[in-house]
Amino acid sequence: MAFMNWDEEVTFDVSWLDEEHRALVDLLNEIHANVQAGEKNFRLHYLLDRLISCTESHFAEEERQMLRIGYPNHENHRLQHKVLLNEIRSLQTAYREDYISLSLDALTQIKSWLTNHVANMDSDLARFAKRFSELNPATDGPADL
Ligand SMILES: [Fe+2]
Ligand SMILES: [Fe+2]
Repeated sequence: MAFMNWDEEVTFDVSWLDEEHRALVDLLNEIHANVQAGEKNFRLHYLLDRLISCTESHFAEEERQMLRIGYPNHENHRLQHKVLLNEIRSLQTAYREDYISLSLDALTQIKSWLTNHVANMDSDLARFAKRFSELNPATDGPADL
């Protein structure tokens, strides 16, 4: 069974958002599989780097869209992104300094943080974005936002 599953509740029918979330989940699952297999290698370094760069670009895209559509909870949402990114960065730093420090507990913490964020904050943003595109059908932006 996968470490993290992606189900209907966190799929919003906003394709760019759903695709990026799915990519993050796939990455976390791959990291988890490597940790469980006891891997302490370059592959894991690479995956952590990738998790950080994918998370950064995903958050940046959400923040860009929030500004574009005038999302009212933008500041609070952006702040939560900052906190999560810091969590992931400190996980990476710990791993770099001591190969043994990448624990399943730490991964589980990231997983639950991400799940909560998507189920609450991102789902609210997705609702607002869909409403925005219904009211502004001619506006430029990702096809379904
Ligand atoms: Fe997100
Ligand atoms: Fe978000």
